[in-house]
Amino acid sequence: MPAHLPAGRKVRYGGDYNPEQWPREVWEADHAAFDLASIDTVTLNVFSWATLQPDEDTYDFALLDAVVERTVAAGRDVVLATSTGALPPWLAHRHPEVERTDFQGRRHVYGQRHNACPSSPVYRRLSAELAGRLAERYAGTPGLVAWHVGNEYGGFDGGCWCDLCAAGFRIWLRERYGTLDRLNDAWNAAFWSHTFTDWEQVVPPNMLSEHWRGPDHTAFQGITLDYRRFMSDAMLANFRDEKARIREHDTTTPVTTNFMGMFRPIDYHRWADDLDFASWDNYPPGQREHARMALAHDVMRGLKGGAPFWVMEQTPTITASRDVNPVKRPGVLRLWSWQAVAHGADAVLYFQMRQSKGACEKYHGAVLDHAGRTDTRAFREVAALGAELDALGDAVLGARTPARVALLFDWDSWWAAEMTDGFNRHARYVDTVLAYYRALWQAGAQVDVVPVTADLSRYDVVLAPMLHVLKGDVAGRLEGVVARGGSVLASYWSGRADEDANAFLMDAPGPLGRLFGVRVEETDSAEPGVANPVNLKDGAGDAVVSDAALVFEILVPQGAEVVGTYGAEFYAGTPAVTRHRPGGRDGSEDGGEAWYVATALDAAGTDWVVRRVLDRHGLVGPYADADDVELAVRENGGGRFAFVLNHATEAVDVAAHASGTDLLTGRRIEAGETLRLGPTEVLVLREDPPR
Ligand code: GLA
Ligand code: ZN
Repeated sequence: MPAHLPAGRKVRYGGDYNPEQWPREVWEADHAAFDLASIDTVTLNVFSWATLQPDEDTYDFALLDAVVERTVAAGRDVVLATSTGALPPWLAHRHPEVERTDFQGRRHVYGQRHNACPSSPVYRRLSAELAGRLAERYAGTPGLVAWHVGNEYGGFDGGCWCDLCAAGFRIWLRERYGTLDRLNDAWNAAFWSHTFTDWEQVVPPNMLSEHWRGPDHTAFQGITLDYRRFMSDAMLANFRDEKARIREHDTTTPVTTNFMGMFRPIDYHRWADDLDFASWDNYPPGQREHARMALAHDVMRGLKGGAPFWVMEQTPTITASRDVNPVKRPGVLRLWSWQAVAHGADAVLYFQMRQSKGACEKYHGAVLDHAGRTDTRAFREVAALGAELDALGDAVLGARTPARVALLFDWDSWWAAEMTDGFNRHARYVDTVLAYYRALWQAGAQVDVVPVTADLSRYDVVLAPMLHVLKGDVAGRLEGVVARGGSVLASYWSGRADEDANAFLMDAPGPLGRLFGVRVEETDSAEPGVANPVNLKDGAGDAVVSDAALVFEILVPQGAEVVGTYGAEFYAGTPAVTRHRPGGRDGSEDGGEAWYVATALDAAGTDWVVRRVLDRHGLVGPYADADDVELAVRENGGGRFAFVLNHATEAVDVAAHASGTDLLTGRRIEAGETLRLGPTEVLVLREDPPR
């Protein structure tokens, strides 16, 4: 389903606003401050269920009416949340089965949030009812631009393992498999005497059943994989329940929910069609995560076929939930916000507008602190960014990333690779994807991060890091990329398992073997810190030695040429990196290249390989050698916008890649001139149209 975004005149700016925590005088001060910071959009009503519905038969919208009225009077647009991400106490007290049962098998009692069992009929009925009543009441409110259903689905530990979910799982399995024979086959149930003879014998995989040590240790990957899919779908059903009720009263306002980027428990690709537009909460785990944030933005942009998305939350200053919560350094909020816009965000919103008075987020950063000051560094930076976004206006709205590189991201592969015994528990899916993405980012290539079902025909380069599970016709479509002259790259552990997480009864990398022209004979592993030096050399070009780690597949070439060899161990001298040129369509000579990387190369080695792949298509960017300088491009009918971002804490000089005007300063820039980019500096260069 194509994206349907809220209309707007500029990149939206604002965030979660929970004025129900303060007396009305404070609301006045809030709005005065919001004006100073060019705040145009606020998300209301994220966690107010207990106020909106004090008991099962009573609804009370008086407070929300007042909040909405005051917001509308201030001329601000509203994102209205449905409040179903946290249960009211009476609901759990009256219907204890709405509470989750955790992975340990413990039935929870009332507490926290993100605490509902997605399969509970009572939760489903009452959450949908609340969403419907809100829509009935607030549809048509001036400035209502979006509906925000629930909050951070899966936010607890990714699901529920109760009896209601068990029953739902059995129904889901019947729909998927039809017969127990097919189920037993998919789960390879003959192993450890697991042949099921009645659907009722199936129980959720958790610490009481198939798991030991935790979610990644399961006796039956097929069962756990299906449960993850089911749980993702069960929460999606909750979203659908509410959206359907909203649509009974409001047929047009876009509906979204706030995702969490690369969040393992939910397969966001399974949800993408149901959202009108994608939005997500950007809380990077560290201070130097530019490539990881860029990847997460691109994953989110990939959900709706490259359409813009929203940053629904980021902190203006500190988070509260980490063990250590450093402040964003001067300039960093601005830099990260522009990075989001550079990757396709048409809104940059905060959690939250005013700091909570109590409970676990009382020290979480906010636009306004407990004192409500507007003379703090944080507020000044927030206001300055607001002014810049105002000045930019609608220039980049709707603009898309002109990517010729695709990176495949696949939740099934993530789930299966990380719950598989054998090989190496230290090799992680996102680390592997990020290693390749970081190399693309460093090289300045524009990248779409897409599901395996995406149309690959518009890309010159397709990367498939750790594509452990091969589904559908993806192998054939990757062959198609190479047949028309493109390049593909796969890493170790790709093509290992089918959709049921069963091994292919053939050489690894399974159905990818023909394209890559190799087979894997053995897979060696090592503890973190143990390196095997890989010698990379391509014809007369530069050679490099890369410390490879963790996984070392021992390859037998079947048509591929050897580009890198292991330097140590009994397999020293055997291939670690290969390139296959299987030929073009109809057996012609002019096909592309299929690279296979059998080990976890270090950054230097990954850069070396990725740049060779990009170089063949002229896709190495102009700032590839400036370590912390990022180039991200968006295009719309109004032009081509190059965002140049300096993530370094020092100034750096680069040669401008194009002539144009920096929309943030109005300054003219000529191609080739030396640009001094200060620490955290951002340029939004509207490039001159080609002559
Ligand atoms: C999440 C939630 C918010 C808030 C922030 C704090 O993103 O959606 O309600 O808890 O985290 O960082
Ligand atoms: Zn449940």
